[in-house]
Amino acid sequence: MTSSDLWTAEMAERYDEGSAFMFAPDVLDPAVDFLARLADDGPALELAVGTGRVAVPLLARGVQVTGIELSAPMVEQLHRKVPPDRLPVVVGDMATTVVPGEFSLVYLVWNSIGNLRTQDEQVACFRNAARHLAPGGRFVIEL
Ligand SMILES: C[S@@+](CC[C@H](N)C(=O)[O-])C[C@H]1O[C@@H](n2cnc3c(N)ncnc32)[C@H](O)[C@@H]1O
Repeated sequence: MTSSDLWTAEMAERYDEGSAFMFAPDVLDPAVDFLARLADDGPALELAVGTGRVAVPLLARGVQVTGIELSAPMVEQLHRKVPPDRLPVVVGDMATTVVPGEFSLVYLVWNSIGNLRTQDEQVACFRNAARHLAPGGRFVIEL
C-alpha cells in the first residue's frame, strides 16, 4: 500500500481545529444538503470519513452513515462525537476495504482521493465504491 501515513494521533487531535474553515456553515451546509438529497432516504458510505466533519451532520439530517477510514486515531476522534453503534466505521484502506450493506450514496470529499498515490490504487478505489452501491446509487467525489 502506498497511501498516506500522515494521519497520526497528534494530527487527529488537531484536525478539527486546524480545519475550522471547512467546518464553517457556508462551506459545510451546502455539501451536506447536496449529499442528503442524493442519498434519497437510503444509507450512505463515506470513504476516508476522518473525524466525521461531513458524516456527523449528515447523520443529524437522518441519513444512516457508515465510514471507512485508514487512521484509527481519526476514528477515535469521530467516536468522541457519535458512538460507533450510530455511526459505524471500519478501519481500513478505502481502495480495498469492504463493509456490509448496500448504499444509495458513496462519497469521498475534500480531495481525499489524493491520499491514494498511484493510479492503480485510485482505480481500485472507484471499483470499491461501485462494489458498495445499490442499483441506481451514486458515487460523489469532490476534488
Ligand atoms: C482531508 S481528510 C478528510 C476527512 C473527512 N472526509 C473530511 O472531509 O473532513 C483525509 C482522510 O483520509 C484518510 N485516509 C488517507 N488514506 C486513506 C486510505 N487509503 N483509506 C481510507 N482513508 C484514508 C486520512 O486518514 C484522513 O482521515
